[in-house]
Amino acid sequence: MIFETHAHYNDAKFDTDREAVLAELPESGVSPVINVGDSIRSTKETLALAGRYSFLYAAIGVHPSEISGLNEETFAWLSQQTGREKVVAMGEIGLDYYWDKESEIQKQQRYWFKRQLALAKEKELPVIIHSRDAAEDTMNIMKEAHAEGISGVIHCYSYSPEMAKEYVNMGYYIGVGGVVTFKNARKLVRTVEEIPLEHILLETDCPYMAPEPHRGSRNDSRNIPYVIAKIAEIKGISPETVEKTTRENAFRLFSRVPR
Ligand code: NI
Repeated sequence: MIFETHAHYNDAKFDTDREAVLAELPESGVSPVINVGDSIRSTKETLALAGRYSFLYAAIGVHPSEISGLNEETFAWLSQQTGREKVVAMGEIGLDYYWDKESEIQKQQRYWFKRQLALAKEKELPVIIHSRDAAEDTMNIMKEAHAEGISGVIHCYSYSPEMAKEYVNMGYYIGVGGVVTFKNARKLVRTVEEIPLEHILLETDCPYMAPEPHRGSRNDSRNIPYVIAKIAEIKGISPETVEKTTRENAFRLFSRVPR
């Protein structure tokens, strides 16, 4: 069975057939699934989905591009949700300087990233990190926050193999999804080559990031075998080993998910 560590089944792109897609996942070999919040609204939707599907767990948090929805009141609400059954991580949280180039907004991103990291640490929840075009600031904030004491995953990893090794040394995992199958994925292929399988997690980021040969279409967790095949090819091991080891990794990190 595949452990899917990053999906957004609350997304409007699943509005027409969400029930059907979700119902098929366990019989297609995918379970459990972590559905990841990226705003206050999507966190509420994620919690509702987790209440309906036994194999689906919730990550709660606000994405750097959604921080306009955060204030003391919504942050306090977020904090209250950490104790709920089926909440297994804080995320996705982090920095995104690709979409937000304005320095004042980037400053606010750093502020709310630090607050959410501190909350995760206080509540002993692993973190799901989103970081784009902000490699140095992300690493600096995580070191300042002693994030090695929290543990988590750098989701949809897009930086250098060297930095990946630094995260691995801090006890972190590297999230690998459809991008690894793309023709221009040379940097990520090198990262997968150079870090131990014991620090890789499988993810889709669906409905986005569909792997080849479905690149550009709506993604869902049933496409993860393409990612598994590519990782197996890169590392020269069997797809079964990739599936089994990454599943163990995910259970180790997301320890609130029952086996
Ligand atoms: Ni995501």
